[in-house]
Amino acid sequence: MTLQKTYTATDIQTWLITQVCEQVGIEPDEVDVQESLESYNLDSAQAMAIVSKAEHFLGFQLSPVWLWHYPTIAALSQRLAEEFTLDSADQELAINKTPALDLRTEAVLDSTISPHGAFLDAVDEPESVFLTGGTGFLGAFLIQELLQKTRVDVYCLVRAANTDEGKKRIQQNLARYALWQDNFSDRVIPVLGDLSQPLLGLSPAQFQMLAGKIDAVYHSAALLNYVYPYSALKAANVLGTQEILRLACQFKVKPVHYVSSVAVFESAAYAGKVVKEQDDFEHCEGIYLGYSQTKWVAERLVKIAGDRGLPVTIYRPPLIAGHSKTGFSNVDDFICLMLKGCVQLGSFPDIDYMLDMSPVDYVSQAIVYLSQQKESIGKAFHLQHPQPIHISKFFEWVKSLNHPVQLMPYEQWQADVLNRVCSVDNPLYTLRPFLLEKWSNEQLTIPELYMQPRRPHVSCEDTLAALVDSDITCPSIDSQLLSTYLSHLINSGFLQVA
Ligand SMILES: NC(=O)c1ccc[n+]([C@@H]2O[C@H](COP(=O)([O-])OP(=O)(O)OC[C@H]3O[C@@H](n4cnc5c(N)ncnc54)[C@H](OP(=O)(O)O)[C@@H]3O)[C@@H](O)[C@H]2O)c1
Repeated sequence: MTLQKTYTATDIQTWLITQVCEQVGIEPDEVDVQESLESYNLDSAQAMAIVSKAEHFLGFQLSPVWLWHYPTIAALSQRLAEEFTLDSADQELAINKTPALDLRTEAVLDSTISPHGAFLDAVDEPESVFLTGGTGFLGAFLIQELLQKTRVDVYCLVRAANTDEGKKRIQQNLARYALWQDNFSDRVIPVLGDLSQPLLGLSPAQFQMLAGKIDAVYHSAALLNYVYPYSALKAANVLGTQEILRLACQFKVKPVHYVSSVAVFESAAYAGKVVKEQDDFEHCEGIYLGYSQTKWVAERLVKIAGDRGLPVTIYRPPLIAGHSKTGFSNVDDFICLMLKGCVQLGSFPDIDYMLDMSPVDYVSQAIVYLSQQKESIGKAFHLQHPQPIHISKFFEWVKSLNHPVQLMPYEQWQADVLNRVCSVDNPLYTLRPFLLEKWSNEQLTIPELYMQPRRPHVSCEDTLAALVDSDITCPSIDSQLLSTYLSHLINSGFLQVA
């Protein structure tokens, strides 16, 4: 590679600081170059916008993978500056240098976290619960379900400058999915804090007071980011879960309802195997995504707390899709971005992939119902769709809407993405690290790693049995459900189709 102009690490650092400030609306003196980029709340789209501009600025192609491996401005600047001094063989070596990570040694729970007090029988009639993730997608539906199906007050962890702003953030989030009712107001209590901080960002006195007040914990918050490595997500997803377990053990013992993910079974060791709810998830080798790695480690911590006597229940959703009746969806999630991007591009990849998604109303109703059953304690539940569909059926359905899209062999489709998706105007752009980069030792892209032969068969038999006395069933993924989603996406202006 011949580079026309060279830049030092300091030049690049100054440039990156300006970019981060532009993206998130902060001043340069608020930027700490040693801080993880994640701490500026850059989402995947903003990170990709910086990658794209950096390519123009530096004059060479910048792999988004570098944001995984060099997650601070200082480290990234240093690495980018090396490009101007390394010869091409060295560049190849440097790109592939992945810091070693042993997830098992990460899964160590602070030995002081152990349930001491008497376990008050809070499952039947808790008065107050603590919920994290109430400004997120699933969290909004969990709050609504808790408020409608129980009499609890919901104390919500929220990042905000003051309680008014915190309350407003929660209210606006429920309103975004058409869930807010004014009579909810008195029962939603914001707790200002931050999952990634010790004691959730509360003072020791506040933490102790909260621990005494609440009767159960619903832990749904996590940082979902496609670009960041384990190291950048660890504080929120792993250490945050440890703080939740600390809270649950403090003052009085409180049951913890932890929202995990089927991603804990992403190791190649489970490929083609049936995994049941109560099976151990001991294998972590070959989990490549930083996010999935954090979910594996965090669930291990919850399991260790359970082994120490804390009443814990684990819920593992697959992809969480929109509401089955209203169609309200998280338009920033993988399904919606892929749909919009492929429709815009005019082509879908021909891959062997089961679209395993469960509507958010099923997931939230199941969690709240199961959390009220004493038999659930100590168990895990799979909120898998009982009858997932093959992605090709989804494509045929989009095509049946008379939309001009074609199915392409995967490699041809990748070339199409590479050549024709050149800006954030197409959401596939933000997914490029997923779709084009080769991640594993086998040099496969993420969709290839997730193809059917490499995935486990996640059984949800025990979960369906546990729900049998309720009226909760998972809506079929049929043309009626897909039309509900599509109508909402079109009416909300998210998607333009013919
Ligand atoms: N969505 C899926 O398809 C899916 C699939 C399987 C499992 N899950 C799991 O389900 C749970 C909910 O996912 P979701 O789709 O609802 O995610 P989401 O919409 O991205 O919401 C994430 C929530 O976590 C909060 N959060 C993140 N970092 C935080 C921090 N440092 N301090 C306080 N709060 C923080 C966010 O608060 P802010 O608003 O302040 O950012 C937001 O409320 C997660 O545990 C996820 O791992 C999701």
